[in-house]
Amino acid sequence: MTTNETTDQTLTNRQGHPVTDNQNIRTIGNRGPSTLENYHFIEKISHFDRERVPERVVHGRGAGAHGYFEAYGKLGDEPIAKYTRARLFQEAGKQTPVFVRFSSVIHGGHSPETLRDPRGFATKFYTEDGNWDLVGNNLKIFFIRDAMKFPDMVHAFKPDPVTNVQSMERFFDFVSQSPEATHMITFLFSPWGIPANYRQMQGSGVNTYKWVNKEGKAVLVKYHWEPLQGIRNLTQAEAEQLQGKNFNHATQDLYEAIERGEYPAWELQVQWMSDDAHDELDFDPLDDTKLWDPEQFPMLPVGKMVLNKNPENYFAEVEQAAFGTGVLVDGLDFSDDKMLQGRTFSYSDTQRYRVGTNYLQLPINAPKKQVATNQRDGQMAFRIDIATGQNPHVNYEPSTMGGLREADRPGEPHEPAYSAKLIREPIDRQNNFKQAGETYRKFEQWERDELIDNLVGALSTCSSVIRDTMIKHFTEADADYGKRIADGLKQADLHDTESRHVGTDPANEGLELAEELGH
Ligand code: HEM
Repeated sequence: MTTNETTDQTLTNRQGHPVTDNQNIRTIGNRGPSTLENYHFIEKISHFDRERVPERVVHGRGAGAHGYFEAYGKLGDEPIAKYTRARLFQEAGKQTPVFVRFSSVIHGGHSPETLRDPRGFATKFYTEDGNWDLVGNNLKIFFIRDAMKFPDMVHAFKPDPVTNVQSMERFFDFVSQSPEATHMITFLFSPWGIPANYRQMQGSGVNTYKWVNKEGKAVLVKYHWEPLQGIRNLTQAEAEQLQGKNFNHATQDLYEAIERGEYPAWELQVQWMSDDAHDELDFDPLDDTKLWDPEQFPMLPVGKMVLNKNPENYFAEVEQAAFGTGVLVDGLDFSDDKMLQGRTFSYSDTQRYRVGTNYLQLPINAPKKQVATNQRDGQMAFRIDIATGQNPHVNYEPSTMGGLREADRPGEPHEPAYSAKLIREPIDRQNNFKQAGETYRKFEQWERDELIDNLVGALSTCSSVIRDTMIKHFTEADADYGKRIADGLKQADLHDTESRHVGTDPANEGLELAEELGH
């Protein structure tokens, strides 16, 4: 039967034309060949050919959810206005919509969620003053303190460019030449290196930021998310067992908990110190490889976040989400932390490439307030961000003809701390090992045992040059730490020679298992 009638369930192409045959390509005769003017087929297949955008260069695997942030109106017991004029924090009970993306760092989009790897914890606050992105990780510190080293670090951690397999030898080759990584490695190879899921995971801004109050007075701050569900991590053995059954468990856990109405929540806590160089400390407060001792700089609650809505579409909302450390609102500022400046360039740069010039027009990235700019055009621009009543002929500023005008300054600017020579050099107060030793000693016995086992397993695949340097670093952190790694490696070598084993490289173990299972 032929009819022109369509319903709202009728399949159309992207021009809105009803599709009458979605199974058969148009051909000359029953057996082909097909013709090139097949509009529906060509549109369908060529759109399919373009379904993927480039994956994030790091943090490729992730899951996201929507929710809200509720302010306490205070920093600990004090009115928060004393420290920051950022409006989202001022009033107790004030809610700001958020979108969060959790991720793992090194491997690609469908890699197992059980790997020993930092986890990303990126939050977009859609505030009344525009967006604020807090782009953090689960661990409170990082491997390196200078943005110049980031591409090398990521290359060393990602799969080998020849074999396409991650190699602990390449990983520790870089780490052994970067002593500032010792502290992060101590966390990463401990049970804190594999969070059990996203809901029971901490978050941290890692880098140091500033808060600025109405009078323009600034303080240095660090942000931390504390999960109200408690914290849970996996041992290596637990992770391996889980990976054999389900390598998407963290995404699934988050999605299903929200569908069940069990909304995960985190408290946002802030540490602060006055805005100066703090020469009395044995570390630099702008050094992201260091913890700020919570005894000295308490974790003060400022609000709570609840995630209560799953994305309707993974690609549109999670894959295309774009977070960056440059996305701040008034009252929140950068510190002079040189990693932070490097990061701030990198995020929006990669997003212009990964998602496109107009990535900020996508609903997931656009602020939930009016955007009025004179930026125009570019690939995929689908609207102009124009103010109500703005003269559409005026896409420049200043103008006398009804264009946009600059805003008033909301408060005093804060004074930069210094003037100095333009140089390239490492920071003075490096103190690369002390906190790594403190962290090692703070671990419980079983956590130290796990750490040693995991490190010995990974280092036993490395050359003696790399091992010796790593043992030296661990010994500088703590004599027992270094000795246990050295002893463990000797034992592993002995075992290796005795059994003529291929090695304790997890990749080799997996190969053996695969071979065994194949027989
Ligand atoms: C993602 C660069 C350090 C947390 C990314 C991306 C880049 C990048 C290019 C991909 C962004 C995208 O495609 O949308 C850098 C550079 C760093 C650095 C150059 C150092 C200089 C850090 C640190 C943290 C961090 C210290 C933790 C605080 C994240 C997170 C994501 C990410 C959570 C994923 C964001 C999302 O879910 O979309 N980073 N990063 N990065 N980075 Fe960094």
